[in-house]
Amino acid sequence: MNEKDFQKKQAALAALNYIQTDMIVGLGTGSTVSYFLDALAASQYNIIGVTTSTITSQRCAELNIPIVDIDAIDHIDITVDGADEVDSYLNGIKGGGAALLMEKIVAKNSKENIWIVDRSKVHNTLGAFPLPVEVIPYGSGQLLRQFANKGLFPKLRRHPGNNQPIITDAGHYIIDCHMTTISNPYALAEYLESQVGVVEHGLFLNVCDRIIIGDNTVEIKERQ
Ligand code: A5P
Repeated sequence: MNEKDFQKKQAALAALNYIQTDMIVGLGTGSTVSYFLDALAASQYNIIGVTTSTITSQRCAELNIPIVDIDAIDHIDITVDGADEVDSYLNGIKGGGAALLMEKIVAKNSKENIWIVDRSKVHNTLGAFPLPVEVIPYGSGQLLRQFANKGLFPKLRRHPGNNQPIITDAGHYIIDCHMTTISNPYALAEYLESQVGVVEHGLFLNVCDRIIIGDNTVEIKERQ
């Protein structure tokens, strides 16, 4: 296991400390969450999961973690998810795995949100990771043009193999915005939310309550 994977696993194991039996737990998407699912399945906790992607639902089936439809429950106690980039305000960019829409729906309906990350994802300012924006396929070429004019350096995400646009679980495209640095994430979020055809964006602002950074000594940052 390389250093990054070691850190992901340490963060995932530490997140287990916030789980209690009978909780309804939002389950994120990605390689770090995968370590969390392994740990959860091996634990004594009796929980019900609410998943954020087809791939996480499949992993839960393999690991015998029971899951429930988000609309069949009246609350989610806690959600554990990964992130692509986090800053010192506990804001982040998500959607590198194309699951940002369901991840944001689950996060917004959770009483508490924990992100588990390796240290390479922690930066002072967001933007090093390209910002994913989930869009309706119809008219997405127009949005690409508008984003380019706005200086967002957009690129339609395509499969490396066949070069076809990737399709999200909800049937949308992803436009990745390669800005390098995002000086005002709140203004950018407001702009994106006002564009017709944008379904959701990967800026998760004021969502996360606790970030667990895996390392030899795990570091935990909490929202004040
Ligand atoms: C999925 O769309 C993302 O938001 C993931 O949470 C994020 O990409 C983290 O994934 P890794 O843990 O694999 O880095």
